[in-house]
Amino acid sequence: MITLGIETSCDETSAAVIASGRVLSSEISSSVHLHSRYGGVIPEIACRFHVEYIFPVVKKALEDAGRTINEIDLVAVTGQPGLPGSLLVGGAFARGLSFARGVPLIEVNHAHAHIVSCFLKKKEEGDILIEVVFPFIGAVASGGHTSIYVCKSFRDFTLIGSTRDDAVGEAFDKVAKILELGYPGGPVVEERALDYVDKHDDAGFPRALLEDKDDLDFSFSGIKTAVMRYWQKSGKTDFERNKICFSFQEAVVDIVEEKLIRAVKKTGIRKLALGGGVINNQNFRERLLARCEKETIELFLPRREYCSDNAAMVAALGERLVC
Ligand code: KG4
Ligand code: ZN
Repeated sequence: MITLGIETSCDETSAAVIASGRVLSSEISSSVHLHSRYGGVIPEIACRFHVEYIFPVVKKALEDAGRTINEIDLVAVTGQPGLPGSLLVGGAFARGLSFARGVPLIEVNHAHAHIVSCFLKKKEEGDILIEVVFPFIGAVASGGHTSIYVCKSFRDFTLIGSTRDDAVGEAFDKVAKILELGYPGGPVVEERALDYVDKHDDAGFPRALLEDKDDLDFSFSGIKTAVMRYWQKSGKTDFERNKICFSFQEAVVDIVEEKLIRAVKKTGIRKLALGGGVINNQNFRERLLARCEKETIELFLPRREYCSDNAAMVAALGERLVC
């Protein structure tokens, strides 16, 4: 089966072609540079970018895969969640293709696709979706989501924890905005945290919702406010910026790590599969790898190219949903 995946839920226009789980091509065009001066994604700009780029991106994905549109058996597209205008562009394009070619269309949940992305592994003949053994705890940490699921099959994801306010990536973005570091915040905050030399001198930002040992939800609005107050009272130097980035990242990684381990212990499912842009964070990856090794939990992390929004994960999940 040959599947064309289309992803336009936020600020990346992406298309991918996969053949029975094997990635033949994955094309991504991002409008992130257009949003950076605003400190966050502007939906109207993202939507217009998708309109302009969807056709060339799909065309390139087909060319790279060495396939024509006539060879596609299935179109998989992100159905929700996402920015309404952005989803509309990918959805309309996918529906048009499916109708014109007379092939089925499947709408895929974006958060579920992020989790499935960690099963796309590098093999000599190219990346492939490895055999997925259920159940596992799936979690997505991105600009739009911070959610934990019990995953029993590709169709059965039960939400057991989520954020009560900001998503974790959104918190990185807002902290970067407060510190005037541009958008997206994650990579620059990570870089600044690495540059901070006095690692024993931590600003001590709050770790919300950790007291109740049963609680699997997240809250990042308090830490964002704490960062803002700290910054306003500080000398606003580069040293202070680095200290805040380091202390913020430490606090966030503590929270997410603790909640994920808690989910494993609460459910007794000792397998953890993660996805989303925040999983790019090297500090987070290393800390979680070490913790899971210590607790004998099997951990699946996506390869870097599949952490952020991409259509390969959409195509891979779409294909499994119809099989
Ligand atoms: O998955 P993604 O590309 O889009 C959504 O579905 O939201 O995630 C984007 C988010 C942004 O908030 C960005 O700041 C964050 O992922 N991010 C990171 C890193 N790289 C990207 N957060 C922390 N550390 C990083 N290295
Ligand atoms: Zn995403």
